[in-house]
Amino acid sequence: MSTAISKPTSESSSVRHLVTLFDVRRDEVIDILRIARVLKDAFERGERHPYLPRRVLGLLFQKQSLRTRVSFESGIAHLGGSSLFLGQDVGWEDRESIADFASVLSQYVDIIVCRAYSHERVTELAEYSACPVVNGLTDLAHPCQALADLFTVEEAFGSLSGAKLAYVGDGNNVAASLALACGLLDVELRVACPPGYELPLSFLEKVRNHVGNVRFTATNDPREAVRGANVVYTDVWTSMGQEAEEESRKQALANYQVNKELMKHADPDAHFLHCLPARRGEEVTADVIDGPNSLVVEQAANRMHAQKGLMAWLLKADI
Ligand code: CP
Ligand code: NVA
Repeated sequence: MSTAISKPTSESSSVRHLVTLFDVRRDEVIDILRIARVLKDAFERGERHPYLPRRVLGLLFQKQSLRTRVSFESGIAHLGGSSLFLGQDVGWEDRESIADFASVLSQYVDIIVCRAYSHERVTELAEYSACPVVNGLTDLAHPCQALADLFTVEEAFGSLSGAKLAYVGDGNNVAASLALACGLLDVELRVACPPGYELPLSFLEKVRNHVGNVRFTATNDPREAVRGANVVYTDVWTSMGQEAEEESRKQALANYQVNKELMKHADPDAHFLHCLPARRGEEVTADVIDGPNSLVVEQAANRMHAQKGLMAWLLKADI
């Protein structure tokens, strides 16, 4: 295996980012998930091939994280690279401009994962970075989650072609990336959110413009969304950064809980997904998330496999 590493510059058009899934085409998502499958199958056979030897991943996180941080750190280690978790002491918020920060950091590392409150932060980081920047969650998007979600659905059914997904709850970052991922991979998705908490129409229009025909329906009625669905997905009602709205959100979303009664309207064998962390008794009841049809642990495990596929794809490993 060749170990020569060429370091692109910020002017280089060969640098790709994943700030949102709008950064990738359908065939590219399929390729990322294909690589993820190859790597997961190898991992399950006990093989950890160094496809990214000595590559360095930098992680910049403004919010808490278990899954995103640890799955990226473990994933790059499996592939023969290493990671740096960068705290506030690197001064990326107000010590210097994002342009200076990104230009310099990207000379030291090969890939940057950033979790930020403001989406613009990650967009700006990517603009000035000489290496790929991956969004590890912002207020608007969670693209790595959506890659793992569809990888999990494909794994559950053997194919995405018969999957009918329903998302019930807040029209948030996770819902937005899920909708775009479903659009890219031509998966049917019905979304039920309360009035005022829907995915923005401008965003849905942008999805349609990016992928063409989408099999997407929006409603305010959770029963209508889950009818006949073979996957039911939800997320927390109050995302990180929205804590001040917690009480009003609980009221607005009270009728959007995924519980056994709602699951009766879905396919009898419907799987349950949740990006985690979850609040049992709020967006989902314990009997559903801890029940036999819940795939939440597999879904969380797949964060690592999907992101290994993503890193290998972004850094052009030969897989
Ligand atoms: N689902 C997810 O992104 O989890 P973390 O916040 O723990 O990274
Ligand atoms: N919507 C949640 C997802 C956490 C993984 C949040 O942004 O906090």
